[in-house]
Amino acid sequence: MIIAVDGPTASGKGTIAKALSAHFGLPHLDTGLLYRAVGRQVFLDGGDPDDAADAAAATGFPDSLLDDPALRTEEAGGLASRVSVHPEVRRALFDRQRAFALQPGGAVLDGRDIGTVIAPEAEAKLFVTASVAARAQRRFREMHERGVQVTLLEIEDDLRRRDERDSTRATAPLVPAPDAKIIDTSALSREEAIAAAIAAVTEAAS
Ligand code: DC
Repeated sequence: MIIAVDGPTASGKGTIAKALSAHFGLPHLDTGLLYRAVGRQVFLDGGDPDDAADAAAATGFPDSLLDDPALRTEEAGGLASRVSVHPEVRRALFDRQRAFALQPGGAVLDGRDIGTVIAPEAEAKLFVTASVAARAQRRFREMHERGVQVTLLEIEDDLRRRDERDSTRATAPLVPAPDAKIIDTSALSREEAIAAAIAAVTEAAS
């Protein structure tokens, strides 16, 4: 069974994808990490993330970069969003994601275009979303726990900018697949969101 989990930044899709992976015993790929690695590599190369050729050249990043804690930062997320608009970058990352989805036994992938581009045949597709206010609030708490000085307003602005860029790009924009089950986590606890996702996948698979 292939499970596709798509949605915007800080919607809870990563948490849900990990929980589904544990519950159904399937390997999990966080595809955002691949785009973050490209963004980070462009930065290390001194290239321009908005330049298609510079970004495409950075898709040859070494696998060891995927373990770099720097990929988890807000800066890396912003760079990832910028390099991900280039079709050359998306093409270069396609085979790796597709091979992961097609491994025997199935897989869980989370990202922006799993249900629409990477694995349109997925048996279960979830689109996990939440209001900007709810997502900003969660991100704010997370960042404060890590000791990062940032205001709620700055986080909201950044989320809006990233949503806008991810949703309006020409290639593989962030849109729910027509057959995706929408899970709005704005008013749900972590446990409720996970339970809703497991129920949706169980129903889709039956
Ligand atoms: O999920 P994330 O925050 O780690 O993703 C970072 C950026 O990477 C996101 O703003 C857009 C891009 N991305 C994408 O275009 N397609 C994916 N499947 C995953 C991420």
